[in-house]
Formats: sequence, structure tokens, C-alpha cells
Amino acid sequence: MRKKVLAAIMAAAMVALTACAAAAPAPAPAAEPAATEEAAPAEEEAAPAEEEAAPAEDAGGLIKVGFAQVGHESDWRTASTKSCQDVFSTENGYDLSFVDCDNDEAAQKEAVRSFIEQGVDYIIIDPIIATGWDTVLTECEDAGIPVIVIDRTIDDSDKYVSWVGSDFLTEGKAAAEWLKAYAAAQGITEINALIIQGTIGSSAQIGRTDGFQEVADREGWTVLDKQTGDFTEAGGQEVMESFCKSYAGKFNVVVCENDNEAFGAMTAMDNAGVTYGPGNDVILISYDACTAGLEDVKAGKITADFECNPLAAPTVEGVLQTLQSGGTPEKQILVPDNWYALKDQIVDFSVDGNAQSMIEVTDDVIAAQY
Ligand code: AHR
Repeated sequence: MRKKVLAAIMAAAMVALTACAAAAPAPAPAAEPAATEEAAPAEEEAAPAEEEAAPAEDAGGLIKVGFAQVGHESDWRTASTKSCQDVFSTENGYDLSFVDCDNDEAAQKEAVRSFIEQGVDYIIIDPIIATGWDTVLTECEDAGIPVIVIDRTIDDSDKYVSWVGSDFLTEGKAAAEWLKAYAAAQGITEINALIIQGTIGSSAQIGRTDGFQEVADREGWTVLDKQTGDFTEAGGQEVMESFCKSYAGKFNVVVCENDNEAFGAMTAMDNAGVTYGPGNDVILISYDACTAGLEDVKAGKITADFECNPLAAPTVEGVLQTLQSGGTPEKQILVPDNWYALKDQIVDFSVDGNAQSMIEVTDDVIAAQY
């Protein structure tokens, strides 16, 4: 009976939300730094944390939520997990079943199916990659369990209630438009870039790669190579070691699609005797703007860092509560991102005609970051 009611709510929400999708707001970086969250160090080597869900009948009035998290590959991911666990806590009225999928697509689908078997009330998915979702989302729909997508997008199915996350394409364009303005200000006339990509097929990778490449093509820059570092420090180091050998003396820009890859790339460049940061051999661009990333901006190592806000869980809870009260949440909800650099690296630029503002990295800004 409960599942039938949920199925009806979900079906009604799907119809209304399809209309909302077209009216999704254009992304616009907020002027203020993101909300504060206690810093959490990356635990790249840590074993996947997995909590067994309590059986449905033991939930004691709590709202049962299953969350299939990507993994534990980065500082960003650690902050995202902590935020979700804080929001969907027992004290807040939730019984959270959290599964760290260790960047394994098959394991993530299995996690979702286990949530269906457990009879959770809601399922939250941060999809490792953007495609291959329709079958399992249909299973969720058939079971009458609303799905909320967080962070990365699902691109081949609309059988979910809402997506809450960042605009990755705009992040990629912002990085490139900043580079264009910064290079002009520095009198740099030639761009020879290397890109260390995120997990191939993830929407975070696709958006950042495509956004940067679009501007690179328009400006006639040379992108010497692109390879994935899988959003990890070890991956970033390995790719950069290979780049340093293959393209020695030929590149002046390195774009890392997250901070952890940038940390690894810096180790590789240190070992190869390549200097980076303002005034050095290489302009190093990164995404995420986690605490450690901003510390490297402040230290003059990363030249500019383009945020991807990991604190979407409170907004996801808002979606869930809207459903609880019979309302219709929006299909797409963007969380705001900010762009960061040291004062001397801040330049005026725009994305798709929208003027952007950058935030100067100071100790206070770092202390307020996640
Ligand atoms: O999906 C968000 C991306 O995934 C973050 O940029 C990265 O750090 C994480 O692993």
C-alpha cells in the first residue's frame, strides 16, 4: 500500500518536473564564499566504508534513505559524504543506509538494488558515470521509491525526481575564460595545454573537459594531450609523470580536473624539475577549491581554482521534505560555485556573456572552506 502511494506521488512529480526542467535557472556563481564546513582530509587509501541498513521494520518512525555514494577518491568526496551523513542523521529523523561504491559502476547499481530490497523510502544516487541508468531507475520507479540525484548527472534517463549539483560545463568554460584573460594580462600569446581529466564518462569530467575545450578551440590554443587521472592524487601523479616525459619543455598550462589530481601533478612536476604557479614555467589550473587546494593557491602553486560545491545535502533534504509534504520539487537545482585566485591573478572575464567575479584567497577564506 505504502509503495503504491509513493508510486503515485512520484509519477505526479515526474510529470510536473519535466515541465520544470526547461525552466531551470542559468548557472551564476555566487559572490559570497560557500557555506562553511569542517575540513576533512582525503583518505585515498582508506577502505570503502559501508554501513548495513537497518531492516525497514526497525526504522522506528525514521525516514529511510539509501545513499549510493561514488567512493572516497578525493577531498571533495570526503566533504560530500560528511555533509550527507550530517544532514541525514538519526537526530534529524533519518535512517541512512550509506554505501561507498569505491568508483565501481556495477557496485553502485547493486547498492541501489539493495536499497529497493530493503524498502527504503528514498534513494539518493551520486552517479559514477552519466549513462546506463534507465533499467535500475525503472526498477526504483516500479518499487515506488523516489530517486534524488546529487552532484553528477544522469544523462540517459529522467526517471528521478530532482538533480541537485554544480554546472560542470560552466566550470570548464570559466577556467578557460579566466586563462584567456590572465594570459592576455601576462603577455602570454601561446597556450600549450595538458589536461588531466576526471573519471571518464562522469558528468564532472565531461562538463569540465568540454567547457575548456570549447574555449580552447575558439581561441586556437593547442591542447597537447588529455588523459584521465580518475580524480585521484595517485592518478594525477602518474599521468603528469608521463606528460613530463612526453612533452618536456613543450607545455605552459596544466589543467587538473580536481584538486587531488593537482596535488599528484605537482609531485610529478617537482620530480621533473618543472616549476608551476604565478611567474613560473606552468600555469596550474584546478577544480574543487577544497581547503587544501586553496592553501596551494595561497602558497602560489595553483594559479586559479574553480569550485565545485560539495555541500548539496541540505538542498537534497529540502527536496525530500517537499516530497514528504506532497509538494513538487524542481527537476534541476544548481548549487552555487565560486572561483578563486590570489589578488594578482584575479582578472575580469565572462562566461557566455555573464560577467564573473573571483574571490581572493586569504587565510579567512581558507578557514571558511570545507
Ligand atoms: O563529482 C564531483 C567530482 O568528483 C569532484 O570534482 C571530484 O573531486 C570528485 O571526485
